[in-house]
Amino acid sequence: MHQLRAVTPLSILAKKLDCLAIDCERGNFDVQFRNELETCRNLASGLDPYLEMLSTPEDPCLKRLSVETKKFDWSDSDDPALVRGLEAEMLSGHVEGQFLKMLVEVSGAKKILEVGVFSGYSAVAMAKGLPEDGKIVACELDARAARFAKEQFLKNALDNKVDLRVGPAIKTLRELAEHGMKFDLMFVDADKQNYENYVKLALDENLLSIGGIFVIDNTLLQGEVYLEEGEKSTPGKAISSFNKYLARENRVEQVIIPLRDGVTFAKRTT
Ligand SMILES: C[S@@+](CC[C@H](N)C(=O)[O-])C[C@H]1O[C@@H](n2cnc3c(N)ncnc32)[C@H](O)[C@@H]1O
Repeated sequence: MHQLRAVTPLSILAKKLDCLAIDCERGNFDVQFRNELETCRNLASGLDPYLEMLSTPEDPCLKRLSVETKKFDWSDSDDPALVRGLEAEMLSGHVEGQFLKMLVEVSGAKKILEVGVFSGYSAVAMAKGLPEDGKIVACELDARAARFAKEQFLKNALDNKVDLRVGPAIKTLRELAEHGMKFDLMFVDADKQNYENYVKLALDENLLSIGGIFVIDNTLLQGEVYLEEGEKSTPGKAISSFNKYLARENRVEQVIIPLRDGVTFAKRTT
């Protein structure tokens, strides 16, 4: 099965400290330095397994979805209906999935809008937190990911709860707004350069109700947002600029939670 790369600030830091500790064992460093480095390494590498271990265990159907996502061949092809660069690392996973499910439950959200479905992990996690009459409209551009996710919704008897729309999310969001649709919670987890467009559209066109919640993923973008300008990739620059936009946006109140790759939680106030 595919071995996942480190894609969060903490797991990247843990990996780097691991490499340093191995180098240090070979070099001539004093005991105190080695011990300090070992403590840093343990602090960084121990947190994620600890969160996994003491959070409510992963639902068996999500565990299966995760295994199947890692086994699937997501490599690029020339098919124009497919998005380039999809990889198993995109899956949100156990702790973030549990966070999303519980957020749906405690907020009492009934209508959810998801932007960026991939293999369906977050959609299934959120659907599990919905009441009987709750619904998710889920937007995905990649035809292959949409097929994979659809199968998961069917397998888990959630296809009546998830309305999957295949195509560019901006187009779908405009169509939903034209039909006067309103949502209680919007999960944004797709192309980083469009994050600002998704949030602005949801506010301008009233797709998100007043009091509704935005949950926005990858807002730390592997730590690039707080690193030097020269160390930012194109998505890193997009998220950095998005975070600044959201901090100025006076229609929301927000907090960035350092969960996994950063999750912003923003409530629409006006
Ligand atoms: C990070 S993955 C989503 C992961 C998923 N939410 C989860 O938690 O498992 C991002 C997804 O957004 C999709 N995407 C990228 N650009 C898009 C667009 N313009 N409209 C809709 N989906 C898009 C990609 O194809 C990919 O499947």
